[in-house]
Amino acid sequence: MSKFPRITYSSINQDVICEDLTGTILDCSISNQIPHIHECGGHGMCTTCRIRILDGHGNINPRTFKEKEIARSRKWDPSIRLACQCHIQGNVTIQRLVWTSSEINKLQLETVPEGNPEERAVAILFCDIRGFTKLTTEHSSFDVAHILNRFYTVLGEPILLNNGIIYQYVGDEVIGIFGVSGGLRDKNCRDALRAALGMQYAVERLNRIELVDFDVRLRMGIGINFGRAYIGHLGHPKHKQFAVVGDPINTASRIQGLNKKLGTSILISQSVLAGFATDTVEFGKDVSVTLDGHDHETTVYEVIGFKGVDVQLELQRSLDYLLENEDEFADRFYSKVFEIAPEARSLFKKNMLAQGRLLTHMLGGIVYSMSRPEYLNMGLKLLGESHVKYGVTEEHYPVVLKALLDTIAETLGDMYSGKLMKAWEDALTLITSEMKKYAAAVSD
Ligand code: HEM
Ligand code: FES
Repeated sequence: MSKFPRITYSSINQDVICEDLTGTILDCSISNQIPHIHECGGHGMCTTCRIRILDGHGNINPRTFKEKEIARSRKWDPSIRLACQCHIQGNVTIQRLVWTSSEINKLQLETVPEGNPEERAVAILFCDIRGFTKLTTEHSSFDVAHILNRFYTVLGEPILLNNGIIYQYVGDEVIGIFGVSGGLRDKNCRDALRAALGMQYAVERLNRIELVDFDVRLRMGIGINFGRAYIGHLGHPKHKQFAVVGDPINTASRIQGLNKKLGTSILISQSVLAGFATDTVEFGKDVSVTLDGHDHETTVYEVIGFKGVDVQLELQRSLDYLLENEDEFADRFYSKVFEIAPEARSLFKKNMLAQGRLLTHMLGGIVYSMSRPEYLNMGLKLLGESHVKYGVTEEHYPVVLKALLDTIAETLGDMYSGKLMKAWEDALTLITSEMKKYAAAVSD
């Protein structure tokens, strides 16, 4: 029997021995190559490393001050802990509670009041898809259900990638809310607009690749509005649901409805326009209308796209494609690294397949975290510091950067474009230089 305590990860049924008692449960996951989301890099702020203690409560330190604050405000029961704040003295069995980056947004709902709804400033996106009638009348219900599922997935993803919450799917409509747990107006509006443009790419790709055999072309209309709406849990006392109510919601829906008449795809209101630097966006027509139920005119603006390269949008639209076969991607990447710098091979002590999955998991996580830059930076600090312990030096970074960019360029295939590569180069240069900066601070 080992003299060191054991952590059992219940859902993957894996045991690991925790040899460093000064480390946290999160440190133990990382050093054992167990994917464990930790967006803020272990600073006890993002809550993404949360775990449920299934057994061995008495073998963990009491909640830290940071944890107490979070647990109180989010009404956690005593079994929920932050892995980055937990040290163990004996065996424990745990369950990781956040599995994928896309689940992180759901955590925002914990900040929504259980009692009386609260007024919060949010950007609201309504997306309606046209072209379903042909689909439902000409294909089997099995095909329709399959396509609907694909449609909900690809349209939901851009909302999640941009720090939004998927509020509702109603028939052929998807509603996203941005800024549920706060944030600056310009960021929430820009996030919503980026999600809209991401949805446009997603539908184009769905039409071009997956729907070709069905002889169906989906078209979409999006309306975005910004305003103060009531947010809370509403409904029967025994069945309350997250709800957003107020005029800004109805206005967003009506703006969306104008697309058909105006022959446009994305329309935003004046209040969204006021939310960000307009010189970064390419506009089409603008029209003044009196929306149903209003007694005043509203001007709506057609959006064509961002001017120049929006790094996040480019990364988001290529991520799925790049990581479609993640083991192959990682394999290709490590071969390139070891080809350029054979001596780096000896730094990798553990299972390379698991290491490859951690790398791709991390790349995906970074793209998601870019919509929460305050956490991304903290995560990169931890990553930079831990790489010093792995024996990584400053000279290794350009090698990895080149190998990653070459792997991306090769994997992109038909999708390759100078704009896309420039976005990946900018993002990865930023990431590696942040990691290097934190690594240098440790080495000094
Ligand atoms: C884009 C920059 C990089 C990213 C995103 C990245 C990501 C990761 C991740 C997620 C891990 C898992 C452990 C942890 O979270 O601490 C890891 C471990 C590791 N990385 Fe990196 N890394 C990067 C750059 C580099 C560079 C420049 C090298 C040098 C060759 C390197 C070598 C290693 C080694 C040796 C390990 C530990 C593997 C083991 O224990 O067997 N990484 N990296
Ligand atoms: S709270 Fe633990 S990693 Fe962010």
